[in-house]
Amino acid sequence: MQASANADPKGESAPVAGILAEFDGPGALKKAAVQIRDAGFTRWDCYSPFPVHGIDPAMGVRPTILPWIILGMGLTGLTIATALQWWTNGVDYPFLISGKPLFGLPANIPIMFELTILLSAFGAFFGALILNDLPKFYRPIFSSKRFKKVTDNGFFIGIEASDPHYDSKKIQSLFRQMGPLSVEEFHDTDPQGALPKAFFRVGIILFLLGLIPLALALKSRHSTSSSPRWHFWRDMDFQPVAKAQRASAFFPDGRVIRPQVEGTFAREQADDNPHLNQGRVNGKFATTFPMKLSMEMLERGKDRFDTYCAPCHGKDGRGQGLVAKRASTLGEGTWVPPSNLVDPRIEKMPVGEIYQAIRYGVRNMPKYGPQIKVEDRWAIVAYIRALQRSQNGTIKDVPEADRGKLK
Ligand code: HEC
Repeated sequence: MQASANADPKGESAPVAGILAEFDGPGALKKAAVQIRDAGFTRWDCYSPFPVHGIDPAMGVRPTILPWIILGMGLTGLTIATALQWWTNGVDYPFLISGKPLFGLPANIPIMFELTILLSAFGAFFGALILNDLPKFYRPIFSSKRFKKVTDNGFFIGIEASDPHYDSKKIQSLFRQMGPLSVEEFHDTDPQGALPKAFFRVGIILFLLGLIPLALALKSRHSTSSSPRWHFWRDMDFQPVAKAQRASAFFPDGRVIRPQVEGTFAREQADDNPHLNQGRVNGKFATTFPMKLSMEMLERGKDRFDTYCAPCHGKDGRGQGLVAKRASTLGEGTWVPPSNLVDPRIEKMPVGEIYQAIRYGVRNMPKYGPQIKVEDRWAIVAYIRALQRSQNGTIKDVPEADRGKLK
């Protein structure tokens, strides 16, 4: 017997794991495979440095069941995704969004698709590994020195000792008839067939290291400490901003709120023109405009009035704006109807008083000073005057020549 090709003394004493025969090339390998197949062996394999065409039928390898596994996993994913979405959205927590159906196909397709693909991929990846008996760091056949050629130029057939038809002598003579380069028994030198020891050591160390953060988290949940919490990501949680009424070490006087700088005042406090800004002349409501009126100003006034005043007072100023109408429809008791601005009372009101109503508000009407600029306020006052004039006009307001055109 040629088993001495394996010179490892330890290997010789180890239990026999099978018989290995080397052949001259892919052709010889294929021929031999056919004979082994026909002899009825089941636990055997061909080993070659590259894929050999036609080796599968020669060995009688049945097509893989992997596609069926993938199909099964895919259908499982589809079912889970459909059931999950139907249950969560349609049954367990029905939540109507824009009147859409609680469970509709189009909205659920992305998840269905994703889970189908995900489980199919898992099926393909892990299925291929499991069917191929992988991952494996060791197989008894590796103990043969000769077998190392298999990644280079060696063509082998190995029959495992676990084969039900295994009979060392018979197999060896069967191989010899096929004209092999060599026939030898190979041994199981590492019956544990375990992973390299270092693998476990590193694994244990990593596992223990991984426990440290968990242990720290557990400890801090169940203990108290007088020092502030660790704050790894500060974001904007702690800002060096000064808060009103607080002390600050930044300023020599220790106050956050700064006193007014002497000899200065805020812009809106400036008032060198009470007629323009307050609508007052010598402490009384102004009766004249502080600027020259123009058509342009009236047009601007109409624009601003329609924006800011018409919602309540109405476009004609009679107090029938949309807001007022709505409020009276709702019949809310607290609503104060907007004044009729073309009423003779307001007609007699000095322009300065109307101006003040805009700037500071009047009784229940809020102030519009912050929204409307000084010039625009006056433009609105001018437009209100125009509204009053147009709605309370008499025949005397029409030029004599045109009076005949009126009916
Ligand atoms: C939110 C609704 C609302 C808007 C907008 C509004 N007002 Fe008024 N306004 C009122 C109400 C309500 C009153 C009556 C307040 C009261 O009597 O308590 C009133 C009263 C007035 C008065 C006083 C009339 C009087 O009876 O003495 C003037 C003038 C006036 N508004 C002008 C304006 C002008 C100009 C604008 C546009 C800048 C405007 N209002 C925008 C609701 C509004």
